[in-house]
Amino acid sequence: MHLAPHLAAALLIPLPHVLAAYDLVREYSGSSFFSGWDFYGNYDNLTNGDVNWVTQANATQSKLAYVDDSGHAIIKVDNTTFVPYNYKRDTVRITTTDYFAVGSVIVFDANHLPYGCSVWPAFWTKGENWPIGGEIDIIEGVNLMTYNQMALHAQTGCTKATSVTQSGTTGGTNCTDGSGCTVAENQSNSYGASFANAGGGVWATQFDESGIYIWFWSRSSVPSSVSSASSSIDTSSWGTPSASYPASSCNITEFFTPQQLVIDITLCGDWAGVASVYQATCGGDGTATACYLDNVINNGTNYTYAYFDINYVKVFSLTDGVLVPSTSGGSTVLVTQTGSAAGASGSSTATGSSGQSGGNAAVAGVVSAGSYVAAVGATVLAAVSWMLL
Ligand SMILES: *[C@@H]1O[C@H](CO)[C@@H](O)[C@H](O)[C@H]1NC(C)=O
Ligand SMILES: *[C@@H]1O[C@H](CO)[C@@H](O)[C@H](O)[C@H]1NC(C)=O
Ligand SMILES: *[C@@H]1O[C@H](CO)[C@@H](O)[C@H](O)[C@H]1NC(C)=O
Ligand SMILES: *[C@@H]1O[C@H](CO)[C@@H](O)[C@H](O)[C@H]1NC(C)=O
Ligand SMILES: *[C@@H]1O[C@H](CO)[C@@H](O)[C@H](O)[C@H]1NC(C)=O
Ligand SMILES: *[C@@H]1O[C@H](CO)[C@@H](O)[C@H](O)[C@H]1NC(C)=O
Ligand SMILES: *[C@@H]1O[C@H](CO)[C@@H](O)[C@H](O)[C@H]1NC(C)=O
Ligand SMILES: *[C@@H]1O[C@H](CO)[C@@H](O)[C@H](O)[C@H]1NC(C)=O
Repeated sequence: MHLAPHLAAALLIPLPHVLAAYDLVREYSGSSFFSGWDFYGNYDNLTNGDVNWVTQANATQSKLAYVDDSGHAIIKVDNTTFVPYNYKRDTVRITTTDYFAVGSVIVFDANHLPYGCSVWPAFWTKGENWPIGGEIDIIEGVNLMTYNQMALHAQTGCTKATSVTQSGTTGGTNCTDGSGCTVAENQSNSYGASFANAGGGVWATQFDESGIYIWFWSRSSVPSSVSSASSSIDTSSWGTPSASYPASSCNITEFFTPQQLVIDITLCGDWAGVASVYQATCGGDGTATACYLDNVINNGTNYTYAYFDINYVKVFSLTDGVLVPSTSGGSTVLVTQTGSAAGASGSSTATGSSGQSGGNAAVAGVVSAGSYVAAVGATVLAAVSWMLL
């Protein structure tokens, strides 16, 4: 397309509501990384892993979740306790208090991901009434896999289009199937020892009405539009994503409610522990208990590499993208910070515990109070109760 110079110049002027500007709404980093996350505090009753996901107090005390001297967040499997037969090993699962609406970009920068036999880490997102509100698996791998696997999980009617522009390799296309609609990363150094040896890398996930797109860059190729993004981020120069899930075959606003972020590590369980899956990269005797017996019990020597080392998690949003749970008349609904401030007694800083600064200012004032009913996954009744707040 050829444009007259003056017209081209005019089009370069950023027009709010026309050119998408994603503004920073949350940053989890540095000494306050763990503010704004909830620790699970229960054994793994979700994926049948052989772990206790400890409370924040326990995780802090046993140094399973902490910020190191370099300001990196470390989240790990206990590798110092002797675990007798029939017991589980301690690890961590954390979930953001806040939810992020369609129209958000989630950036995750890490130096090291957990790996090793029996180890199953993930960085993912989920809706409020999981699994109903959808799930985006951004980083996931098991045992000694050498590449990251991405996936969507959604209710019936969401599938993955196959003729898409992406560098990864599509696995299943039905997002309702047990393993979801998967894409295997095709770039090198996306998981395991090679990820760490390459200095880590960055994932950016665009959670958009037009689709869900996941980019991965190994450390040496992280673009400056990502590494230097502070108050806003621009996705337009990123090129081909690793995984593309266009809305043409999965209506994002229909299948995905606002998402909270989850970081967890489990051991064995429904994926890493499946006999054939475990044996594929870790060998052993091929029995169903090999994963547990060879790793989880005893002194935990195999968990030296079972840790996340995270530089930051940042969330950018188009407009008023941060939602917080609010209870009213027995229903929990998600409300915007501005809506919450206007309708209830709290101030918009009530949820400002996430260690970020600068994001709220961008949010406040954009939306007139109460104009954005974000009754996600809620019934009509709940939506009504929100309006009565
Ligand atoms: C898992 O355990 C927690 C804490 O006891 C409980 O609230 C939750 O309902 C359980 N989830 C499942 C799927 O069993
Ligand atoms: C926390 O630690 C205490 C003391 O060791 C233990 O009794 C409790 O089971 C732990 N709870 C969790 C959820 O890790
Ligand atoms: C996708 O899988 C679900 C659950 O297995 C099934 O009900 C649905 O019919 C499948 N959809 C397609 C398009 O195959
Ligand atoms: C990427 O795909 C090419 C072609 O299918 C394949 O040869 C290569 O091994 C893949 N790389 C990774 C890291 O999966
Ligand atoms: C997608 O879903 C939304 C919400 O359910 C609906 O309003 C919209 O019409 C749907 N779009 C298409 C193309 O079906
Ligand atoms: C560690 O993993 C290896 C496989 O890589 C396995 O053979 C071994 O039994 C595991 N356990 C220990 C304690 O080394
Ligand atoms: C841990 O267990 C492994 C395998 O049983 C053993 O080789 C190793 O010596 C043990 N290490 C310690 C410090 O006890
Ligand atoms: C536990 O893992 C850390 C790194 O995560 C390592 O520095 C340490 O030596 C390990 N401890 C044991 C007893 O294996």
